[in-house]
Amino acid sequence: MRCAVFASGSGSNFQALIDRQKSADLHVDFAVLIANNSRAFACQRARSNGIPVEHLPPTHFAHERSYAAKLAELLGRYRVEMIALAGYMKKIPPQIVGEYRHRMLNIHPGLLPAFGGRGLYGKHVHRAVLDYGAKISGVTIHFVDEEYDHGPVVIQKVVDVLDDDTPQSLAERVLELEHAYYWRAVEAVAQQRITVKGRRVIGQI
Ligand code: GAR
Repeated sequence: MRCAVFASGSGSNFQALIDRQKSADLHVDFAVLIANNSRAFACQRARSNGIPVEHLPPTHFAHERSYAAKLAELLGRYRVEMIALAGYMKKIPPQIVGEYRHRMLNIHPGLLPAFGGRGLYGKHVHRAVLDYGAKISGVTIHFVDEEYDHGPVVIQKVVDVLDDDTPQSLAERVLELEHAYYWRAVEAVAQQRITVKGRRVIGQI
């Protein structure tokens, strides 16, 4: 399948996907990287791997509808069949969500439905977990639907929260899980090995 990756920052998850593709564990073609921030390091990772980059900040559009139309045009132009959000911090317009239903994945650095939703992304999630005093955290890989951090869950993995954890140290351990598991979800979608029944994702991952 032709896969678009969306990223806003460092793109270490994007790199982990590229590495798995190179080692032939992951069977997708990376059609394009879409970044809302042209200075995101993810753009350099794409260029050094010969993957086209499109810079598309939603703030450049007066209306969500015109942003969605541009996004749809780009996804069509690159013949994108599935989408992997890899540290992408912007909302995906509902038109695009509908078009790629159960073919668009997101990673959330926490155990949904806790510590998710608007404003809870990246380091904010780890800070909220520590402030709450939770004893476990982890990663949730899920399909994207019209609500923030809400679509059907594909993979969840857990880490213990340690007494001396900081948002940074917790982020690092969760990121290791993200790198270890995201490609598996992408591969399962690409190989059409999973189906969605209600909220339940069924099949071999
Ligand atoms: C990752 O921890 C990812 O789970 C999180 O941003 C980080 C990006 O790291 N994503 C979200 O919070 C999405 N709401 P990366 O740029 O190194 O892959």
